[in-house]
Amino acid sequence: MKKSRGGDPLVAAHPLGERRPVTLHLNGTIRTGDCEPRDLLSDFIRHELGATGTHVGCEHGVCGACTVQVDGVAGRACLMLAVQADGRRIDTVEGLAQGNALSDLQEAFRRHHALQCGFCTAGILMSCADYLLRVPNPSEGDVREMLSGHICRCTGYTPIVQAVLDVASKRREQSHELEVDNA
Ligand code: FES
Ligand code: FES
Repeated sequence: MKKSRGGDPLVAAHPLGERRPVTLHLNGTIRTGDCEPRDLLSDFIRHELGATGTHVGCEHGVCGACTVQVDGVAGRACLMLAVQADGRRIDTVEGLAQGNALSDLQEAFRRHHALQCGFCTAGILMSCADYLLRVPNPSEGDVREMLSGHICRCTGYTPIVQAVLDVASKRREQSHELEVDNA
């Protein structure tokens, strides 16, 4: 026998169409919007807050296109509900540049031609930005392993690997120069 929706306590607690306010610290700015409890973070960011730099491909955690940073850690925005992100810091590709100045990572992608159609690029940049803070001296194999969480159909990955290694190397040089200057 079909169960009536009205008799289900879970449905009664979360009626269809119910909307809730969700507040994010999005790229350094406090942003609030409404969503249904079932809405994905990726859709909330794009459609409710208008931050369309985050792309959506597979919607089930495989392609990596939707990768953002949640409290500084890269993660799939299609595997998180918007309501789970309430009150948390969310960084997206829109937050990488400072005004018109691209970040060193974005500049390296430009220099090495590490993107073609660009669909995967926002997610890859957000993963790489987190990764390089945790792994300042990666090998080519390390970078390839990290990138295995992303699907790019255009570049063949080699220019992306070169861009990431280039940034890592330049950052190490800069931090060495700073150490020498401060000695
Ligand atoms: Fe999230 Fe593909 S859209 S991993
Ligand atoms: Fe086209 Fe990666 S640049 S999918």
